[in-house]
Amino acid sequence: MIRFKDKVAIVTGGAAGIGAATARIFAELGAAVVIADVDAAAASALVDALRRDGLDASFVLTDVLVEEDIKAAIEHAVSTYGGLDILHNNAGIPRTRAPDAEVSDMTVDMWRMTLDGNLTSVMLGCKYAIPHMRRRGGGAIVNTSSGGALAATVDLTAYSAAKAGVHALTREVAVAYGRDNIRCNAVVPGAVLTARGRATLPPEVLQMFADETPLPYLAEPEDIASIAVFLASDHAKMITGQAILADGGMLSKLPYWSSKLRAARGEEFDRSAADIS
Ligand SMILES: NC(=O)c1ccc[n+]([C@@H]2O[C@H](COP(=O)([O-])OP(=O)(O)OC[C@H]3O[C@@H](n4cnc5c(N)ncnc54)[C@H](O)[C@@H]3O)[C@@H](O)[C@H]2O)c1
Repeated sequence: MIRFKDKVAIVTGGAAGIGAATARIFAELGAAVVIADVDAAAASALVDALRRDGLDASFVLTDVLVEEDIKAAIEHAVSTYGGLDILHNNAGIPRTRAPDAEVSDMTVDMWRMTLDGNLTSVMLGCKYAIPHMRRRGGGAIVNTSSGGALAATVDLTAYSAAKAGVHALTREVAVAYGRDNIRCNAVVPGAVLTARGRATLPPEVLQMFADETPLPYLAEPEDIASIAVFLASDHAKMITGQAILADGGMLSKLPYWSSKLRAARGEEFDRSAADIS
């Protein structure tokens, strides 16, 4: 049984999606949770809901594009709860805020903003959290990456490069601070059915994800959160420097995977894809 009694956790981008699911599980398993998010209304609503359930949570307005905000969020956790044990570097900058493109259409401003929001932010979270974790005798960092770190997405060039950088950074932190009893890992989701994803992605795109996923379901935020929580727990005490892919098998198959191969041969493939309705 995973327990986080007397542990303090901070989750960036913790007001919605994967981060909100992680924050709730941390709190339910006994941690005091700080939600560091740019969306004050959603974060406050989640903190209120957690407190109504008798759980320990607080919110600090944080834009991970701003170094001072990240530093202040960590300081808030330490001053409110007396220390920091877990950092879930989860916030990423959505495309609506940081447009992305193929390289020939890329501007330096686009590139920098996406790298700032998805990679520099993760480095800064580690930078400000690690001294407090050392003081505590150890800690765990879990970074949220993306399948884009492992396979080309074509027009998410900067995002994919940033997430691939997260994998390298994860290893660097793991090796540099292992002797301080600080572990650092990444969880690597494929497509996740967040509220934002359901609201913004056309049904045809969701269906395409389902068709391309060997497992007969797509991830809910809780399915990624449970992996982040495991990596943050003592149950994962021998795991560090790793990027754990959780994509339902999407990247494990050849492009001409069996359904398409059988269709090309004119054969039936009777296993249906996930129902995403
Ligand atoms: N949803 C997916 O399919 C998917 C797939 C792979 C990776 N990811 C990664 O998972 C992480 C979480 O994504 P999600 O899908 O749960 O997102 P989401 O949109 O559901 O929630 C993101 C949260 O982050 C907050 N946020 C956005 N910009 C911020 C900023 N500058 N500073 C602080 N908070 C900010 C939002 O307010 C929101 O509460 C991201 O790093 C994303 O790249 C998501």
